[in-house]
Amino acid sequence: MKAETVMEAARTAASRAYAPYSNFHVGAAILTKGGNIHSGSNVENSSYGLSICAERTAATAMASADPEDREIELVAVYSPNASPCFPCGACRQVLQEFGCEEVVVEVGGGLRRYPFDEILPNSFGPEDL
Ligand code: THU
Repeated sequence: MKAETVMEAARTAASRAYAPYSNFHVGAAILTKGGNIHSGSNVENSSYGLSICAERTAATAMASADPEDREIELVAVYSPNASPCFPCGACRQVLQEFGCEEVVVEVGGGLRRYPFDEILPNSFGPEDL
């Protein structure tokens, strides 16, 4: 599966963002090791702290879809408001939980790929317990 295909799913997800407070629209799409794509957008709330980022929407969709396919090969993140748009710290930790190997962002119309170790170095995860 090409990263561009996953990014296209992230773009579609961004177009479905519910972000009436920040007006900052984000979409994320996860490619699993099993070859499936799960996407999500940010979903804000009038109680601001309850808002959820696109990456965590996508990760929870993935985690609750198929217990046999919860390993993340890569995640693509897109925002029409920021190029590139990187996952926030909390989302990096959630992506780590599922073994994310790579983060793909859009820069100047092209894709840039980052090994997850560069995105969250010296991380803590399930293997540490
Ligand atoms: N947001 C995401 O969904 N993902 C990111 O990577 C950065 C921030 C959302 C949270 C909030 O709804 C809005 O963008 C502004 O912070």
